[in-house]
Amino acid sequence: MDTTAAVVEPAAEADLIASLPADFRWGVATSAYQIEGAYDQDGRGPSIWDTYCRTPGMVEGGDNGDVACDHYHRMPADVALIKSLGVDVYRFSVAWPRVQPGGRGPANPLGLGFYDRLVDELLGKGVDPWVTLYHWDLPQELEDAGGWPARDTAYRFADYAMLVFDALQDRVRTWTTLNEPWCSAMLGYHEGRQAPGRQDFPAAMEAVHHLLLGHGLAVRRMRAAASTPVELGITLNMGTSMPATQSTADQEATRRADGLGVRIYLDPLLRGQYPGDIVDDLSVRGVKLPVVDGDLQIIGEPIDVLGVNYYSSHLVSGVDSAGRTEDAEGNPVQSTVRMGRPVTAMDWEIVPEGFTDLLVRLSRDYPGMPMVITENGAAFDDEADPSGYVADVDRTAYLSAHIAAVAAARARGADVRGYFAWSLMDNFEWSYGYAKRFGLVHVDYETLVRTPKQSALWYRDTIRRARAH
Ligand code: FCB
Repeated sequence: MDTTAAVVEPAAEADLIASLPADFRWGVATSAYQIEGAYDQDGRGPSIWDTYCRTPGMVEGGDNGDVACDHYHRMPADVALIKSLGVDVYRFSVAWPRVQPGGRGPANPLGLGFYDRLVDELLGKGVDPWVTLYHWDLPQELEDAGGWPARDTAYRFADYAMLVFDALQDRVRTWTTLNEPWCSAMLGYHEGRQAPGRQDFPAAMEAVHHLLLGHGLAVRRMRAAASTPVELGITLNMGTSMPATQSTADQEATRRADGLGVRIYLDPLLRGQYPGDIVDDLSVRGVKLPVVDGDLQIIGEPIDVLGVNYYSSHLVSGVDSAGRTEDAEGNPVQSTVRMGRPVTAMDWEIVPEGFTDLLVRLSRDYPGMPMVITENGAAFDDEADPSGYVADVDRTAYLSAHIAAVAAARARGADVRGYFAWSLMDNFEWSYGYAKRFGLVHVDYETLVRTPKQSALWYRDTIRRARAH
């Protein structure tokens, strides 16, 4: 990838987008904790995010998901909104603490009932439901028992998955086990920037393995219990990592970044083993993945679709700003260096061609695995007019460039079958609280009124055009 290249011109983008096939799946995505609110209703138990939000200093503005977009009470109107965007499919997550308030035991019928109604509402409007079973809201009781670093959590996850699967499999075709295990493990247990906020690298590596094990256990049981054909998969967040220079230190840092960001998940999922170089790096640090005989067979259970979440790509350096190659603990430095691109409100560089490169690379390194983009989008500092409308030319341009990047990857052989914009509407952006807006639809947090932004209208028209040929 040429990191200085200009982004593709809009006319070229339109041509690329027009090359997408008529059966390409178009959707919008959300997750439970980010939109639902109703945090203590109908028997929902606390999750690690409820706890994290109540820990002073963890979330910007002291925000939390108690009310969020109040989707729990406005679901039918939100489904009508989804329908008005003209999408085929809606990706949402099920809140584990609604279904099993303490993370184990029988299903809470009121909690499960919400998703039952949501699925019926979607199907009644001709929108396909796409379920994510885990989008980061671990029941707090399971964290108290050790969380993802504890092996038992993988088995608890599979039990929970089956409660949901048994209730909805007659109407839901596509199931994603986990959303972004990298974030759960690395941000949650190593960097402490997300719930549960721990800073313990060996625990994070245990979490990686138990997240993958939970995925495999759930896939195995769902497949065995499926009474009609289902599509099972997992969603990973990935980007293209490139060395900042050709120095050995930068190349090595890039290898490690890619190893801990991409290969440590995809190799066991799709090739039946952890990447040897990363296992070696870990053992130098005295860290071991807690693999038990038979685990890799479980993790490698065949899946039908790989969900790809893409936001940005990175230049990686093995040298810090002071010129050091080792950090205070003696571990090799791995830092990111600016490419000098425009950034979103998250300060993430806008690198659409890194998306194309990622998809082409995935299709080369892990052939035969259909992919769907389960998230892509951008936060910008929106300004709504008095009616609530946002003329978000920046977000629209981001979406256009990135959908074109997907089409460019398809033209180079990547088997990408669908695209979900993140997100349907502005929502609780984790440790950034409500300060960052990713929605195609604006939410006024005082009144909770939803207003489609320019990007929503552009997306609707783009889908309409793509279907017309
Ligand atoms: C992803 C998350 C999603 C949202 C976007 C911006 O990492 O899966 O919930 O926060 O980032």
